[in-house]
Amino acid sequence: MSMVDSFEKIPVKIFPDLKEGSAFVAQQIATLIRNKQTRKEKAVLGLSTGSTPKSLYAELVRMHKEEKLSFKNVVAFNLDQYYPIANDALQSYHRFMRINLFDHIDINPKNIHIPNGEVKKEGIKTHCRQYEKMIEDAGGIDLQILGIGNNGHIGFNEPGSSINSRTRLITLDNSSRIANSYEFANISEVPRLAITMGISDILKAKKIILMAWGPMKAPVIKKAVEDDITEHVPASLLQNHDDVTFIVDESAAAELTRNKSPWLTGDCEWTPKMIKKAVVNMALKLGKPVLSLTNSDYNEYGLSDLLVEKGDAYEINLEVFYMLRDTLTGWPAGKPNAVIPGHPERSIPYPKKVIIFSPHPDDDIISMGGTFQRLHDQGNDVHAAYQTSGNIAVTDEFVTRFLDFAVGFEEIAGIDTSKSDKILKDARRFLARKKSNQVDTPKIRAIKGLIRRCEARAACRYVGIKDDNIHFLNLPFYETGSIEKKPMSEKDVKITMELLRKIKPHQVFCAGDLADPHGTHKICLDIVTESLSRIKKDHDAWINDCWLWLYKGAWQEWNIEEIEMAVPMSPDQVLKKRFGIFIHQSQKDMVPFQGSDSREFWQRAEERNSVTAGQYADLGLTHYAAMEAFVRWHY
Ligand code: F6R
Repeated sequence: MSMVDSFEKIPVKIFPDLKEGSAFVAQQIATLIRNKQTRKEKAVLGLSTGSTPKSLYAELVRMHKEEKLSFKNVVAFNLDQYYPIANDALQSYHRFMRINLFDHIDINPKNIHIPNGEVKKEGIKTHCRQYEKMIEDAGGIDLQILGIGNNGHIGFNEPGSSINSRTRLITLDNSSRIANSYEFANISEVPRLAITMGISDILKAKKIILMAWGPMKAPVIKKAVEDDITEHVPASLLQNHDDVTFIVDESAAAELTRNKSPWLTGDCEWTPKMIKKAVVNMALKLGKPVLSLTNSDYNEYGLSDLLVEKGDAYEINLEVFYMLRDTLTGWPAGKPNAVIPGHPERSIPYPKKVIIFSPHPDDDIISMGGTFQRLHDQGNDVHAAYQTSGNIAVTDEFVTRFLDFAVGFEEIAGIDTSKSDKILKDARRFLARKKSNQVDTPKIRAIKGLIRRCEARAACRYVGIKDDNIHFLNLPFYETGSIEKKPMSEKDVKITMELLRKIKPHQVFCAGDLADPHGTHKICLDIVTESLSRIKKDHDAWINDCWLWLYKGAWQEWNIEEIEMAVPMSPDQVLKKRFGIFIHQSQKDMVPFQGSDSREFWQRAEERNSVTAGQYADLGLTHYAAMEAFVRWHY
């Protein structure tokens, strides 16, 4: 009998990525709809919004268009809606459902039900009772689709919601407002209230599927699935339902015991990677350097299996210590004229041609500023390739400030200012009347892009990179003017392949946010890996000697056991990096769409780099001030 999932109190199916997970759920929905069709019955679906179900809805739309899946017999009930909100507002869930699903399928509009964010406050109770009655009259929900908040909410049932809670008005948790703030221009615009179906309504569904993608969801998935039932984690209340399945991708499953500590489930193959993971986690948990771990530590931590296989703690400790030591290097492109077995990079060729791909114009310096500097200082030919314009993250105030400068500059230079003056006036007029989240004019978007380009150029000059080595790709997928991006296209790949073929790099660095469900970083990574794979298929000679290294974006760091190259930094190098990040002035202070972390980018970077260095020290290696971390990716 498999013990793999023995810690899990809710069945969990893990898929390699959200696309495959979504396709599985779409198939479940399609089967339900078709079975009901043959019986001439209605299929009653409970639906959710947010970033999680977007790919599910895209797949259902595809099935409708390509596989003739009809939604004529579907009755849909959505979980929730902000309150108050106009149904046609940009962030309203009515609009979300139309754009992502209902406008593209043949559902009867009469069968669509979404809590109404426009009802008067006095009418809300009645509205909620009617909503529940409508579900009951439809025969109850056959299949309820859920997402999960980082705080464990389902629907908008925030922590503390009781198992008996019904459809009602609820105050949004601050963490939910912050998590959803990416849809709004800033946090103060996120509504404070919402109407949500209650936990008791959700539990009445005949079948429930909860989906979760990405590493941010990993801790709450573990709590909901493995820990005790508690109203503090509303999703854990689903343990009371007898037909619920969690569909997650690998990164959302990362904290489950079967992945985090697979040796505890009795089903574990002791590869070097697994040994490193087990021992590193044990050492950090016990607060002991690796070389001080004893046989009894191994036994007490549940690693007696490994001990039996390897014989002695000290042997295993040494093996892991050397693995950690071999990741450390001050020579990120390899050390010339040196033979260092186990070094993460080749010493030949030297110097190397290097491309650092940066999704936004500041990711390079934020995420690998110290390494960037070293690569350059050590004589390598370093190119910076900025993948997107990053224009949506510039405030309107910056535009008028710089236009003011442009007009003033022309005055000083004795150039006719009438054209720039008009642009400034037009911009002022437009921005003064701009509605929250309204897309900027193409000219203003171009100016915002220019501001970020100048900052990136200045930062490159600060590092010492020559102008010819700075490339702005302006990938088209990004240019929507809003938070919602287009999918990667042939054009994006073509532009990237052209640059790669021109430079023929030995080393490529890329933002490796592998599981970011809706972010620019993931698309940027996909574009580079797709380009490299195509060049490989075409057998270009240089590609066989081109290594791809991934750094993490501004939000996260690799787990210590995953790191394959760690580049230490001195306190001076930390400061130099900080000042490099400061050059990106438009990204300091109040950045639009900053997400759920209110720290500035330089603070996040410094904290992350010093935590990595601290963990290496805790494991018994030298204590550096800071470290940047990389994982090699085989494409
Ligand atoms: C949305 C809803 C919420 C979301 C949850 C996750 O209708 O009810 O519970 O499912 O907040 O949001 P995302 O999917 O954006 O991570």
